[in-house]
Amino acid sequence: MAAHLRDVEAASDPLIICRQWIEAAVASEPNDPNAAALATADPSGAPSVRMVLVKQIDKRGFCFYTNSESRKGQQLAANIGELRQRLAMTAPRWNI
Ligand SMILES: Cc1cc2nc3c(=O)[nH]c(=O)nc-3n(C[C@H](O)[C@H](O)[C@H](O)COP(=O)(O)O)c2cc1C
Repeated sequence: MAAHLRDVEAASDPLIICRQWIEAAVASEPNDPNAAALATADPSGAPSVRMVLVKQIDKRGFCFYTNSESRKGQQLAANIGELRQRLAMTAPRWNI
């Protein structure tokens, strides 16, 4: 059965809302419901984007596992606090 985001109880904290969405997606989406597109930028501002699997969401933010020496790891470390990264999540059966 499809998960309906409208049925997820509204919360004021965006991280809590996102965690509720993923929990709803996990119940109905068999294929990587925690997959997210992570965009980063190099020092010149050139963007790159790739998929990661979000393992946890809490007050500190989104957690995924990766190699800190990877391109994304280096760009995230270089851009901490500069808001040069974005995370986009969706699942076909979220049925927004
Ligand atoms: C569905 C899916 C999930 C992925 N999850 C991860 C992940 O959790 N961590 C990770 O390091 N790479 C993950 N990858 C591989 C990355 O998308 C990427 O190709 C790789 O980490 C190299 O990225 P970078 O060179 O930009 O750092 C995933 C790929 C796919 C298709």
